[in-house]
Amino acid sequence: MNQLIAPSLLSADFAHLAQDIDMINNSEADWLHLDIMDGVFVPNISFGFPVLQYVAKLCTKPLDVHLMIVQPEKFIPEVKALGAMMMNVHFEACTHLHRVVGAIHDAGMKAGVTLNPSTPVCMLADIIRDVDMVLLMSVNPGFGGQKFIEHTIDKVRQLRQLIDETGSKALIQIDGGVNLETGKRLVDAGADVLVAGNSVFKAADPKDMIHQLRSL
Ligand code: DX5
Ligand code: ZN
Repeated sequence: MNQLIAPSLLSADFAHLAQDIDMINNSEADWLHLDIMDGVFVPNISFGFPVLQYVAKLCTKPLDVHLMIVQPEKFIPEVKALGAMMMNVHFEACTHLHRVVGAIHDAGMKAGVTLNPSTPVCMLADIIRDVDMVLLMSVNPGFGGQKFIEHTIDKVRQLRQLIDETGSKALIQIDGGVNLETGKRLVDAGADVLVAGNSVFKAADPKDMIHQLRSL
C-alpha cells in the first residue's frame, strides 16, 4: 500500500479557503487533516466548528480531525456532525482514554490517539488494540512550519513493533515538519499516513507536491 497523504488545512490561505479546498478535492490527497486548537492544551487557537461546517460542505475527501483541546470527548457530537471519518484525541488530554475511544466508535467514527513528542510509545500498550490509528507528533503541537524532531523516526519503529506484536490494525500517522526528505525516512521506518501543512500549501505547485509525497 502507498502511504496516505493528509494535507493540513492549518497552512491554507484562510481568506480563500474555498480555493484551497478545491485544490485538495482535485489532488491525489487521501484525507483532509483539520487541526482544532483551544489555546489551553496548546498555545494557539486555530478554527472551530462554525468554520469547519463550511469546510466540510465543500470538501469531498474524508475528514481527519485532530483535536488539540482539553476534554475532547465533549465535542464528539460536533465532530460527528461534520461527517468526519476520523477523530484524533491526544493521549495527554484524556484521563479516561478507553472510554473516549469507545464513545468515538459508538458515534460511528474511527478513533485515533495522538502522542506528543515527549510521550513514549509504550504508554499505548493497553489501548493499541482498540484504536484505528496512532498519530505521532513530530513537532510540539500548536503551529505549522516547525522543524521535524528526529527522534520521531525511532518512535515509528517502536510503534510498528508494538502494532505487530499485539496484532493491532492501527495505522501510523505522523504530523509536523513532514516534507519530501523527512517523509521518505518516515515511510521507510513504517509510517502509513503523512500529514503535511507547509510543505504542501507553501509549495509552488501544491498538487504536484501531494503527488510526490504520495509516490515516495
Ligand atoms: C501542528 C498541527 C499540524 C500542522 C503541521 O500542531 O497538528 O497538523 O498543520 O504543519 P507542518 O506540516 O507545516 O509542520
Ligand atoms: Zn495536526
